Amino acid sequence: MTNLTYYGHACFSVEVAGKKILFDPFITPNPMAEEVDLSSIEADYVLISHGHEDHIADAVDILKGTGAVLISNYEIVSWLADQGCDNAHPLNHGGAVELPFGKVKYVNAVHSSVLPDGTYGGNPGGFVIESEQTNFYYSGDTALTYDMKILAELHQLDWAVLCVGDNFTMGHADAAICADWIGVKQAVGVHFDTFPYIEIDHEAARASFTSRGSTLHLPVIGETISL
Ligand code: NI
Ligand code: MN
Repeated sequence: MTNLTYYGHACFSVEVAGKKILFDPFITPNPMAEEVDLSSIEADYVLISHGHEDHIADAVDILKGTGAVLISNYEIVSWLADQGCDNAHPLNHGGAVELPFGKVKYVNAVHSSVLPDGTYGGNPGGFVIESEQTNFYYSGDTALTYDMKILAELHQLDWAVLCVGDNFTMGHADAAICADWIGVKQAVGVHFDTFPYIEIDHEAARASFTSRGSTLHLPVIGETISL
């Protein structure tokens, strides 16, 4: 079993082989995550899918506070290095790196990626993590795209973290199709309910996945779930 802890919006942590991998830190600007204490979050690696504020807001504080290794695209790694976070490994689409807990690959996402100060943030991505313990996919912010089908050809995925909030990303009906295409029976929904634009009907979202033969978990902030 692999534990995932949800910190709100698209921020979550997964523990693999004793290493804590934190994704898309956005906590202090999120009023729904008020009870989350940023300084209590442990991380050995911080993975950032793209440059938008709602995925990177707390990156500098977390990276400096934990000494974690940053993994992101080249442009985001460079931007954070300029802010003193230079313990990092850059990737670009289709490329992977072997780390002590497993292999991290940066994969396609259909979205945008400007950084909070207007700097070009490269192209947005998602991640595939493969390890002896578990294989999973985090979509980042993306539309449903046929590129996802290649994930099932190249990887044996056990579960996925998918954006489900609609409006800026795929909604739950499209995310359920993604789960089907990539061959996972369990998905964790993120990028929902944080803002009025992305409020979703939880029951309808779960039903979208059920109708495609999979299960959607919609975690509560602070909750840890086992996958
Ligand atoms: Ni975004
Ligand atoms: Mn976003």
